[in-house]
Amino acid sequence: MTPVTKPISPFEGQKPGTSGLRKKTRVFMQPGYVEAFVQSIFNAIGGCAGKTFVIGGDGRYFNAEAIQTILRMAAASGAARAIVGQGGLLSTPAASNLIRVRGADGGLILSASHNPGGIDEDFGLKYNISNGGPAPEGVTAAIFDQTKTLREYYTLDTDDLDLSAIGETTLGGMTVEIVDPVTDYAALMQTLFDFDAIRALIADGFTLRFDAMHAVTGPYAKTIIEGMLGAPEGTVLNGVPSVDFGKGHPDPNPIWAKPLVDMVMSSDGPDFAAASDGDGDRNMILGKGVYVTPSDSLAVLAANAPLAPGYARGLAGVARSMPTSRAADRVADKLGIGAYETPTGWKFFGNLLDAGKATLCGEESAGTGSDHVREKDGLWAVLLWLNILAKRKMSVKDILLDHWQTYGRDYYSRHDYEAVDSAVAEGIMGDLKALADGPLPDGIQKIDSFSYTDPVDGSVSHNQGMRVFFDDGARAVMRLSGTGTEGATIRVYLERYEVPDGDLTNETQDALAPIAAAVDELTGLKERSGRTAPDVMT
Ligand code: G6P
Ligand code: ZN
Repeated sequence: MTPVTKPISPFEGQKPGTSGLRKKTRVFMQPGYVEAFVQSIFNAIGGCAGKTFVIGGDGRYFNAEAIQTILRMAAASGAARAIVGQGGLLSTPAASNLIRVRGADGGLILSASHNPGGIDEDFGLKYNISNGGPAPEGVTAAIFDQTKTLREYYTLDTDDLDLSAIGETTLGGMTVEIVDPVTDYAALMQTLFDFDAIRALIADGFTLRFDAMHAVTGPYAKTIIEGMLGAPEGTVLNGVPSVDFGKGHPDPNPIWAKPLVDMVMSSDGPDFAAASDGDGDRNMILGKGVYVTPSDSLAVLAANAPLAPGYARGLAGVARSMPTSRAADRVADKLGIGAYETPTGWKFFGNLLDAGKATLCGEESAGTGSDHVREKDGLWAVLLWLNILAKRKMSVKDILLDHWQTYGRDYYSRHDYEAVDSAVAEGIMGDLKALADGPLPDGIQKIDSFSYTDPVDGSVSHNQGMRVFFDDGARAVMRLSGTGTEGATIRVYLERYEVPDGDLTNETQDALAPIAAAVDELTGLKERSGRTAPDVMT
């Protein structure tokens, strides 16, 4: 079968963002659009000859079609092997794991994460490198460069492959291996956690729910939680992946997973509940009557991780993204291990994990993970929580309270202003940056723009968000989202520390209201964006 060369003109704006290229599905469906981006990836990584790729996605609308295109192009460019999840499905952490255990050269993951799916919703495609993690900025910049000058792409004139049956087949000179998406991932989880202890906890009457939100984690959760851990059938909610996520928003936060939150807040609700997003890398953790903010979750996991066999020897260090609260730093400090502050985006953790500097990583955006893969991992976080609960034999609420009584509490919330006019949003950010150099208003100690120097390779990333430090130790961060597909989303991250013997059980928004007001006064955020309140508060 001979490869065919097809001419193509570059598409505007194929610039990978925080997590790959993310656009409206119809944009991706334009003739040649996927081809242009995929060829740019292949060109940027020095071609495909002899290489092995892992390919899969979260099952959203257009997932199946895009995979067929990628397979034909990889084969035409001389790839040796493609490892594809059955039915085209692979969660992001499972893809990361497969890249690693199979020694693949890289992976193409199709997902727009927590954004809705469907012909009028969102689609995405990202490239991961051989360590299993998202391509670093050097690689994404090279891909973007290629997209601007691309003139042709290579493909095969062939029919679609049947991806429904496990086994090997060939496409041109490339072997296509269709694998069960769950098997290797479940085996990895079993090495990290005390499944016997969790099984005993559940057998003892501990109740839980996991909401897969009609997305990719359904089959994973069913196999692991209902199968291997013996939770009753029905523990996994919305467990069948659908192309439009049941017309929902597969974002595990208190807004989009409200039914689950309502369930655990009621007196007859389960002891524990959790949810994951479209591609399975995010998590939300809830206990009876309590929501665990992602920043606190990272800190609690860091403090208790050695209770799980995979972390019994302790942690090398903990890393968090800059807008994530400083709760994890307090744990690292007490343990005498490294604490790292990186820009937003999981890719920045890759070097720290590879170099053995950090074992656990986390972000306020509901991402938590460890050095077991190079992506954040929703189910992993759920299993680590269950392992801790099984060992400590305390409720989620009591574990949190105990944590705050030991380390103090970082009250924390993120306020989002969505679909703001891009020019207005840029203006607000620009003006705040300009304030940094002038005389500072009363009550503010410092304003700066966050820059990061990677301690491993020395690369520098500027303009990673504005930080406002208040005299009383509180902090506000403002940055523009890198994952939206419509206008600009302004994110305001608010945090205030309360000492261990202080008022630890205040209502979060009440505790942070003065900081929110100070940010508004400083930036004119509400008036300029034309909003009276944030669209989302996490
Ligand atoms: C993706 C990345 C995360 C990152 C998040 C930030 O989910 O995988 O690592 O934290 O985007 O999104 P934002 O919209 O705030 O740029
Ligand atoms: Zn995701």
